[in-house]
Amino acid sequence: MSDNSNAQTGQVVPEAAETYESFFVPALFGQFPERVLNAVGLEAGDDVLDVGCGTGVLARAAARRLPSSGSVTGVDVNDGMLAVAGRSPESVRWRTARAEHLPFPDASFDRVVSHFAAMFFTDRDQAAAEMARVQRPGGRVAVVTWARVEESPGYEAMIGLLNRLIGPDAADALRAPFVLGSLEQLETMLTPHLTEVAVDRQDGEARFESVEAWVNTEIRGWTLAEMIDDDQYDELLIAAEMELKEFVDADGRVRFPAPALIATGSAARSGSAWTEVRSSESRLIEPFPVPRRRSDRDEAGGRE
Ligand SMILES: C[S@@+](CC[C@H](N)C(=O)[O-])C[C@H]1O[C@@H](n2cnc3c(N)ncnc32)[C@H](O)[C@@H]1O
Repeated sequence: MSDNSNAQTGQVVPEAAETYESFFVPALFGQFPERVLNAVGLEAGDDVLDVGCGTGVLARAAARRLPSSGSVTGVDVNDGMLAVAGRSPESVRWRTARAEHLPFPDASFDRVVSHFAAMFFTDRDQAAAEMARVQRPGGRVAVVTWARVEESPGYEAMIGLLNRLIGPDAADALRAPFVLGSLEQLETMLTPHLTEVAVDRQDGEARFESVEAWVNTEIRGWTLAEMIDDDQYDELLIAAEMELKEFVDADGRVRFPAPALIATGSAARSGSAWTEVRSSESRLIEPFPVPRRRSDRDEAGGRE
């Protein structure tokens, strides 16, 4: 297990993409897209970009809210994830692309969102610059990450088990989604490229039908699928059933907190009041201010 680069860059095998969509999305990721779309102030007619879209949970939610106007585009580096995304009925353009090199002209989108993907970008600064570049003035960018692993006790405990039973690379693979979990890190990523940066901590909950479903989802639905053999899997499951009881309710279901950070910012608009906003000022807010962007768009003379 010497190379865990796929874990650090969030790359899964095609079978894991299927498990990710069937089990991980309902257990964990599906609770945030509506909140994120509200945070960026999604409006009818918007053109939306989802960066690191995976199987498309956020892009699909955006498409459902834009049934007859606007557009939704999802990009990801992983073709297995995009293959699963492509089976969805919603009208979304799926495209293979890196966050660090978005294949779109400047100012192509009204809303640019990245949902639990930025922690895996190899060059976060370049990715933030790209998201700002393709954002239309007056629009809104959101980058969503997990809060620190210490705030998700079920994951902290599972990481401890992996470390003991499988080894540090496996533990690091499960730690990777939490490496961008502080306000300061998100500020550092976004403030060089966006104005009005704000970070909102949102409560979330991990919900699995059983410890077995939890272990199966974590191991078979993400980067650990390639790192753990069947014997190790069985050993991990037995240990998890015995040692992770504190996260199991009376019905045998697993529940534990899994909070997220939603960072938002605006593309700078030269020669206007937007450039006067102090980009170095970030803050925790609750709830989000509603962006005043329709009037900005009108003032700019329309989008296209
Ligand atoms: C945890 S998944 C999140 C997927 C989806 N946004 C969701 O919320 O379910 C992280 C995704 O980021 C993608 N990813 C990692 N690095 C990337 C990059 N540099 N550019 C684009 N996508 C990337 C991975 O392929 C993976 O699909």
